[in-house]
Amino acid sequence: MGILIDKEVQMFHLKGKESSYIFHVDNHGHLLHDYYGKGIKKIPKNWLNSTVSRQWSPIPYEKELDYALDSALLECPVTGHDDFGIPMIEAQFNQGDRSIVLTYEDYELVHGKPSLTGLPHSYGGIEEAQTLSITMVDKLRKIRVELNYCLFEDSDILTRWTKIFNDSENEIFLDSVQSGGLDLKGSNYEMLQLSGAWGRERHVVTRELVQGQQSIDSNRGASSHEHNPFIALTSKDITEEHGEVFAFNLVYSGNFSGTVEVNEHDRTRLTMGISPRDFRWKLRSGEEFCAPELIMTYSSKGLGLMSRNYHDFYNNHLIRGVYKKAYRPILINNWEVTYFDFDHQSIVDIASSASDLGIGVFVLDDGWFGKRDDDTTSLGDWVVNEEKLQGGLKALAGGVLDHGMKFGLWFEPEMISRDSDLYRKHPEWVLRIPDRDPVEVRYQFTLDLSREDVCDYIIKSLSDILASSSIEYVKWDMNRYMTDVYSRLLDKHSQMETAHRYILGLYRVMETLVTNFPNILFEGCAGGGGRFDPGILYYMPQIWTSDNTDAIERLKIQFGTSIVYPPSAISCHVSDVPNHQVGRVTPLKTRGDVAMFGNFGYELDMAKIPKEDIFEVKRQISFYNKHWKLLQYGTLYRLTSWDNRKIVAWSKVSKDKKEAIVTVVKLLAMPNSHDIILKIKGLDPDSIYMLDGGLEAIGGDVLSEVGLLLPHLDDFESHQYYIKCED
Ligand code: DGJ
Repeated sequence: MGILIDKEVQMFHLKGKESSYIFHVDNHGHLLHDYYGKGIKKIPKNWLNSTVSRQWSPIPYEKELDYALDSALLECPVTGHDDFGIPMIEAQFNQGDRSIVLTYEDYELVHGKPSLTGLPHSYGGIEEAQTLSITMVDKLRKIRVELNYCLFEDSDILTRWTKIFNDSENEIFLDSVQSGGLDLKGSNYEMLQLSGAWGRERHVVTRELVQGQQSIDSNRGASSHEHNPFIALTSKDITEEHGEVFAFNLVYSGNFSGTVEVNEHDRTRLTMGISPRDFRWKLRSGEEFCAPELIMTYSSKGLGLMSRNYHDFYNNHLIRGVYKKAYRPILINNWEVTYFDFDHQSIVDIASSASDLGIGVFVLDDGWFGKRDDDTTSLGDWVVNEEKLQGGLKALAGGVLDHGMKFGLWFEPEMISRDSDLYRKHPEWVLRIPDRDPVEVRYQFTLDLSREDVCDYIIKSLSDILASSSIEYVKWDMNRYMTDVYSRLLDKHSQMETAHRYILGLYRVMETLVTNFPNILFEGCAGGGGRFDPGILYYMPQIWTSDNTDAIERLKIQFGTSIVYPPSAISCHVSDVPNHQVGRVTPLKTRGDVAMFGNFGYELDMAKIPKEDIFEVKRQISFYNKHWKLLQYGTLYRLTSWDNRKIVAWSKVSKDKKEAIVTVVKLLAMPNSHDIILKIKGLDPDSIYMLDGGLEAIGGDVLSEVGLLLPHLDDFESHQYYIKCED
């Protein structure tokens, strides 16, 4: 394992645990991709002979009529000279020309993982990671491109990021800088994406590749509910356990695009990075631009292994702070309980009844500041509403603390209401086009976080509140997409930098706050799961998954989210019935079992639930607290496919394979139905396990290969097994 370099033939082999990624420099200095897939020892250069010219191929070297790049596998495709495919870099130079020719200059190999200034990034020490930087240059236009590859030892994670340096005397306009990608021979793949909308985020969607481009993107200023910055290219026989997967996830929270293009000669090319739409970056002489990091993984054993590669990597090399791998407390949030209608006493009452049941954190949601009694006012005025909360936050936090609970608070720092003191004072702080009224969404505008003064205001106003009382948890919300993207402080040629500068500003604000308040547990949120991406996870170890809290709807959302993100990042709450989003009535047990998929909490008034439900809530809390390690950090196996119509099942297995929790949820029951058998994966075939503390001992091989006969379950009923190895 490691990065192997054959200097003589200029070949680079990034050898992961079970995978190989190989490329070389050819005789003309072009960087050609050789192979990505299951680990191999070595491959001759150009084994797949990809530089053959064809009818209509551009011939870049006049004496070599059989050499062309338009069907070649390229490490860094560019535009305008020798390839018509989708480029990783597009730029305009001072004569108005857009053509780029990149040739190899040098490489550098270092131990460890360098950080990306101002951007979220994965991390790893000198024992854990190796980084290869390849320098390519366009000698005529004097741009330097640094292609970075980081291989994490003992894993199949490879990360890529791209930097561009302007070594010329002139300005260059960058129209697209993709973070990375992959060229593959053939197109016999499916594209898997995580798509949806508010309330139905990250559903798994697959499609066959055809000639042309198929893409996902967000141009909404956030990674979005609609598409997650993730694509997997899979073999057509893909299942949880079988088939080949190449996967890509961008560490970025703003506009992005991921494009898969099949060309006329059946070359498949994937690129991913900041969306080129509405992007243009002025790179002055001597400046550099760094594109966000792309996390790639390869699995020859299906989607399950691909997910587990990401889960382990994000838990070990992306998520930071005191809550990394630590217990994430069970919380109660008042949003679906009270919405905006609360006062000091009603909140203390909710906290008090929750604490009696053993819940550890109370989170006060929207409506505690300014004059906010509904969603029409006060965003930006981060001053407690003392009419509503007599005694202020200090008294309230004290009231919650008195019940032995921690206190958490909701903010929506990036937003401003038209009806707010902040807007009356600083209308120029809003993203808005000159002479045009900006568009409202939920009666609010977006603050211009590309401005330093706006970011400083957010840091100061939040810091003042966080320092003023015992706040140990923050829910960071964001409830509208960007429109009218224009910043007053940028000149007219730089306006297309605004959206990216906003995200850089946001990252600075988040970095400052998480550094200054290291003991606060921050939870990301964007109208539910509108910004569930690795960029946010770098600052905030967990994210509110969706505003849809219906247990049955959540199955699809949580399964889809777990395709990439670890259960410890996926926040799930038990809410009331009939469910507020879809009106469905599901058993409390099912709601609890489904919410135990990730970080567990409630949005229920415990004082109002029936007596028999109190027992069930107590059981859930004690079960979750007893098995939190397994539930939050156990290895996840999805035991059914995301589109199974009968049952949905998953297991969490401890790293030593000594225990597991299996959860099964019935969808619609059928009369006179057939038996359902569930095979439990991830156990040790040679160990003997006890089921549910019962008397029956059964081999791991039987559970895995023969399976379990499931009990009869009615509509929406669930069952949980606790499995423990007999020592
Ligand atoms: C959207 C969030 O996803 C909800 O949980 C809640 O915090 C509301 N915003 C409050 O406005």
